[in-house]
Amino acid sequence: MKPPVDIAPADGKLGMLLVGLGAVSTTVIAGVHAVRKKLAPPVGSLTELGTIRLGKRTEGRSPRIRELFDLPSLDDIVFGGWDIFEEDCYAAARTAGVLEHDLLDQVRLDLESVKPMPAVFDRQYVKRLDGPNVKKGKSKKDLAEQVTADIRAFKQRHNCSRLVMVWCGSTEIYMKEGAVHQSIESLEKGLEQNDPAIPPSMVYAYAAIKEGIPYANGAPNLSADVPALMNLAASTKSPIAGKDLKTGQTLIKTIIAPGLKARLLGVKGWYSTNILGNRDGEVLDDPDSFKAKEETKKSVLDYIFQPKLYPGLYDDLTHVVRINYYPPRGDNKEGWDNIDIFGWLGYPMQLKINFLCRDSILAAPIVLDTALFLDLAKRAGMSGIQEWLSFYFKSPMHAPGLYPEHDLFIQLMKLKNTLRYLKGEELITHLGLEYYD
Ligand SMILES: NC(=O)c1ccc[n+]([C@@H]2O[C@H](COP(=O)([O-])OP(=O)(O)OC[C@H]3O[C@@H](n4cnc5c(N)ncnc54)[C@H](O)[C@@H]3O)[C@@H](O)[C@H]2O)c1
Repeated sequence: MKPPVDIAPADGKLGMLLVGLGAVSTTVIAGVHAVRKKLAPPVGSLTELGTIRLGKRTEGRSPRIRELFDLPSLDDIVFGGWDIFEEDCYAAARTAGVLEHDLLDQVRLDLESVKPMPAVFDRQYVKRLDGPNVKKGKSKKDLAEQVTADIRAFKQRHNCSRLVMVWCGSTEIYMKEGAVHQSIESLEKGLEQNDPAIPPSMVYAYAAIKEGIPYANGAPNLSADVPALMNLAASTKSPIAGKDLKTGQTLIKTIIAPGLKARLLGVKGWYSTNILGNRDGEVLDDPDSFKAKEETKKSVLDYIFQPKLYPGLYDDLTHVVRINYYPPRGDNKEGWDNIDIFGWLGYPMQLKINFLCRDSILAAPIVLDTALFLDLAKRAGMSGIQEWLSFYFKSPMHAPGLYPEHDLFIQLMKLKNTLRYLKGEELITHLGLEYYD
C-alpha cells in the first residue's frame, strides 16, 4: 500500500452556493432536506449510496464511499444562491414543477429560508430571460467584488468552515476562448473595462476561484474553462470541474456507445431529438444558447468512437442533435434516439431508444456528488481541473493537449481509482492473473 494523501477533516459546516435557483438547484436543495428527514432515498448519488472495492476480490472489502472518506454529513450542508428572480427556494421549486407539492410542503420551512441573492446578469448572454433581482455595478470588476462580498457574508452568517460553488444557471450564448481569457492580468483588465467576452458565469467563477473556493460548472458555457481561471485556480488552490451535467440523452449515449464500440459494431448514423418544456428548454430555444449545448452534446461520439483509429466503422457517421421546446412536458423530457448500426459483412441494423426521463431528477445527485467530491479534493490539497470528475459531465474539462474521456465506464474507473489513490490503496487494473497462479 502507498501512503495515503493527507486529507483535512470535514469539520464544521459546508456552504453550498448555487448560482441560479431553478429546476436543478431547487431539486438538489429540496432533495437533500428530504433525505435528511428520511422522506425519500438519495438514488443516483455515489457519495450517498456508492461502494468501492478495495484490495483483491478475495478480500471482500467494499466499504461505502461515505464510510471510507470523511465526507460532510448532509446535516452539515447549508445552501445559498443567486437568481435573477426574487422568489425563495420553496416558490422557485413550485415554479420549476419537478417535485410534488406534498414533498415540497414537508421541507417548506427549509426551502423558504433560502432566498436568492441579487444576480450578476446581462440579457445579452441569456436572451430569453429577464428578471428584477439583479446587481448594479460600474464595471464587471465591481460586480465580481459584490459577489465576493456575498460569499464572505454568507460564510460568516452561516458559520461555514468551507464553501463550494456550482453554476446551475441558464445556458449562456456560445462563446469561444479569446485574448482576454488568456491570463489573470488580461481577465482582470477585461473585468475593469467591461469586456463583452466576459459573461456573468465567468464573473461568479472568478469571484469563487479568487477566494480559493472549489467551482463546478453544470452548464455548457465557458465559465471557468479558460486559461486565466485555470491559472488562478492553481495559484489559489481551487479544484474546478465541468462542463454541463451528464444527464438524459447524453448519459444514455455514453452508456450505449462504448458497448457498440467494444464489440466493434459500425455506426452510420445517430439521430437524437427530444422535447422538454421547462425554463431550460425555453432558454435553449434561442439558437445562440442552443449552440453552446449542441457543441457539448455532439463532441461525445467522436471521442468515444475514435473514427481515426477505426476507419470504415465510425468515420462516416452522421450525428444530429435536436432539442425542441414543448411546454406541456415541463421538466419531464422525452428523448428519442435512432441509431443506424451495422455488423458482420456490413449488414445494417437499427436501435431505437425512447427515454422518458426527468432531467432534474437525474441532475440533482450529480450536483451533490460534485460538490462533496470537490470539497474532498480541496481538503486533499488538489487544485485545478479535477479530471476524475469527468464522470459527471457532458464536456469534461481536460488539460491542454489531452482529449477528454467520455466513456462512462472509463470515467468511473478513473473516479474510483482516484479515491483509492487518496487512501493509499492499490489501484485496480482488473488484470487478475494472481487468482490463477
Ligand atoms: N436539468 C438538467 O438535467 C440539466 C442537465 C445538464 C445541464 N443543465 C444545465 O443546468 C442549468 C440549469 O438547468 P435548470 O433546468 O435548473 O434551468 P432553470 O432555467 O430551471 O434554472 C436556471 C436558473 O438560473 C437563473 N439564472 C440565469 N442566469 C443567471 C445569472 N447570471 N445569475 C443567477 N441566476 C441566473 C434563472 O433565472 C433560472 O432560475 C442550465 O444551464 C442547463 O442547461 C441542466
